[in-house]
Amino acid sequence: MSSEPLVLGIETSCDETGVGIVQGTRLLADAVASSVDEHARFGGVVPEVASRAHLEAIVPMIERALSIAGVQLQDIDAFAVTCGPGLSGALLVGTAAAKALSVATGKPVYAVNHLTGHVVVDELEHGLLPSTAVGLLVSGGHSSLLVLGDHGSQFTSLGSTLDDAAGEAFDKVARLLGLPFPGGPWIDRTAVAGDPRAIAFPRGLTAGHDMVEHRFDFSFSGLKTSVARWVANCQREGVKVPVADVAASFQEAVVDVLLRKALDACEHTGADHLILGGGVAANSRLRAQATQRCAGAGVIVRVPSPALCTDNGAMIAAVGSKLARAGVRGSDLAFPTTSVLDLSTTVVSNDV
Ligand code: KG4
Ligand code: ZN
Repeated sequence: MSSEPLVLGIETSCDETGVGIVQGTRLLADAVASSVDEHARFGGVVPEVASRAHLEAIVPMIERALSIAGVQLQDIDAFAVTCGPGLSGALLVGTAAAKALSVATGKPVYAVNHLTGHVVVDELEHGLLPSTAVGLLVSGGHSSLLVLGDHGSQFTSLGSTLDDAAGEAFDKVARLLGLPFPGGPWIDRTAVAGDPRAIAFPRGLTAGHDMVEHRFDFSFSGLKTSVARWVANCQREGVKVPVADVAASFQEAVVDVLLRKALDACEHTGADHLILGGGVAANSRLRAQATQRCAGAGVIVRVPSPALCTDNGAMIAAVGSKLARAGVRGSDLAFPTTSVLDLSTTVVSNDV
């Protein structure tokens, strides 16, 4: 039996109720319930619906994770929970549960940053993060290029999106094409039958003056508008929209910009590792192109498996485990939730 701390992580920042159990960097359980089907008819996540779903799913997910891991609640050495960023009501459910578990067991709780989890989760599959690396974090709410220092314990932002997040662009374009919510996986599947070179959609902030001012920033709203115009044009001319070609060409534009900038960031910082994370990192074209282009550039790419890219509790447990192993003390139990939190904070309110 490992002597490393056993950590239970809780994630409820959006529409997934995730509970994961980790020992060291070993994943023991990853239980996830999603309310995504309840939001589909609204075309986006409805906060009130998500909060209610978390309230119903949280205890069953905790029980399921303990059962999968084959451990008892009293065996857990520390808890970790997403305290932000995310939907306020949704965050309250997970944090209240984590505080209750901490009070009941007398074990510490780490109030951790959801975004950190999207990067640190890679340790569960590929071992400790390298001493320095570039991180590309692409989710429904965030798109950022980061420099990871101190084996993933320090994050410095190089740039981020000026408008839509990458996942948001996928979801909005899917809607334009009449595909269900959430659109990312649907675009991914639909694009397989399309030609990525059929339509030359714009690559935002990749040329001229933009590369001086926004070298490591992203912008996807122009791309989304361009797809909307293209679709409207087909409809005006009474031509059937070639959905697979539009999906493939749009996806190609996003993937191209993400990887061009990520590899430029590696060159700029001298990093020889690129870590991908967040829901959009589940995209099959991004994964394939990342492997190919990074090999060409002599950069080692690390991407968690698709189920660990989208929201889950294991990623939060992974951060808790890292903190516990480093001897960081737990958060004060009065810790707040915070809807807006940048990557400079890994754990909140542990200094009192
Ligand atoms: O990280 P995540 O699960 O939640 C947030 O923290 O936002 O990311 C959700 C986003 C959604 O926009 C979803 O459409 C996108 O990730 N996504 C994908 C794929 N799977 C999920 N985007 C492109 N291709 C996919 N296969
Ligand atoms: Zn996320």
